[in-house]
Amino acid sequence: MPSLLVSKSGPLKGEVVISGAKNSVLPILAASLLTDDTSRLDDIPDLEDVEVMCELLEHFGSKITREGSHITIDNNSIANTSAPYELVRKMRASFLVMGPILSRFGSVKISLPGGCAIGTRPIDLHLKGFASLGADITLGHGYIEARADRLRGNRIYLDFPSVGATENIIMAAALADGLTIIENAAEEPEIIDLANFINSMGGSVRGAGTDTIKIEGVKCLSGASHTIIPDRIEAGTFMVAAAITGGDIILKNVIADHLRPVEAKLKEAGISIYELDDGMRVTVERPLRPIDLKTLPYPGFPTDMQAQMMALMCVLPGTSIITETVFENRFMHVSELKRLGARIKIEGRSAIIEGVKRLTGTDVRATDLRAGAALLIAGLYADGTTRVRDIYHIDRGYERIEEKLKALGANIERTQ
Ligand code: EPZ
Repeated sequence: MPSLLVSKSGPLKGEVVISGAKNSVLPILAASLLTDDTSRLDDIPDLEDVEVMCELLEHFGSKITREGSHITIDNNSIANTSAPYELVRKMRASFLVMGPILSRFGSVKISLPGGCAIGTRPIDLHLKGFASLGADITLGHGYIEARADRLRGNRIYLDFPSVGATENIIMAAALADGLTIIENAAEEPEIIDLANFINSMGGSVRGAGTDTIKIEGVKCLSGASHTIIPDRIEAGTFMVAAAITGGDIILKNVIADHLRPVEAKLKEAGISIYELDDGMRVTVERPLRPIDLKTLPYPGFPTDMQAQMMALMCVLPGTSIITETVFENRFMHVSELKRLGARIKIEGRSAIIEGVKRLTGTDVRATDLRAGAALLIAGLYADGTTRVRDIYHIDRGYERIEEKLKALGANIERTQ
């Protein structure tokens, strides 16, 4: 099985170009199903999850051509509105095709999404949203079916500001009759990117990025061209890698506003961050100190950066505390970090991290995408060599991560 061998590395130095955002391109690929026209997307990252979503679209009948980071999707001959288990189980985000297919074709059948390492990850809020728009939802034999002669706009309150539910409901409402208002909506930058794409198709989505989003349904949508926003979580991951190695790097293709919570917490730990005209500089100019953080829906500290920050906290002098409020089981990386010599205690939804001076490389395994990134970060600091296994998790969400890290001076190799 392929793995990544990371050895103790000196301070990371140099420039890294951030790729397009995984969590933006996935809903936008799904949204391309809202039209029978052709759409063109740029700054598409080369990720396993993008491959899976394209495979799913092709299963429906999309014709996809890819040239480097550009992708063209022709949805003129969609012949199928059912998504099988073997495709959906690969990636939870597959469920994002439900809203657009229901909206455009009036019926959709999709396998229940698989759970994953970070919790059960229900879809009740998605289904409640579709039902509020007039869809009949039936569950049976591991599949969900939704049918509606015509979706009608409605006011929907989300019990939790779910990113996926917000996205799925926006896409379902885009071709519904009348006005839909989503309250307590997710405010992530990826929601704004999706709204911008739908609006460039001729849709009417207002208020994305706030907790109240209004979607005026339209009769039909046309194809559009769109450039995907930079991946704020990849950027944050490299910021932490620079911090743990005492490095000095420049991030290119970043939107500083999307990184405010990460920037605030890294600065609190003593890391210097400078906004440049064309990027951000991250460097360590003074001794670092422990911090406490709580993950929250955007604009709070992102749960997708929790594991990476924990890796840094393992070597900050003193006690740091992380509280995970978004997912009920997102501490799978704790036991792997402890194999490297970290001192971490879990108490309910919090992890208490006692900083240590040394970590020692050994075999560990990625339990999910961000946990894998955290182990690479810890491996840059640990004495000796750390072998990170199950790196397919990492390849789902990081484009050429070992090449980008190696270019910054990291000692990292991919082995077969
Ligand atoms: C998106 O997942 C991201 N994935 C996740 O990134 C990210 O961690 C998450 O948002 C939170 O920011 C993509 O965008 C493809 P949620 P999503 O619905 O939409 C509960 C990564 O590492 N919930 O906001 O699945 C759920 O159980 C991935 O890139 C319900 O209860 O997240 C969780 O506790 C990991 N009912 C919380 O809401 C529902 O119907 C947040 O989930 C839906 C969600």
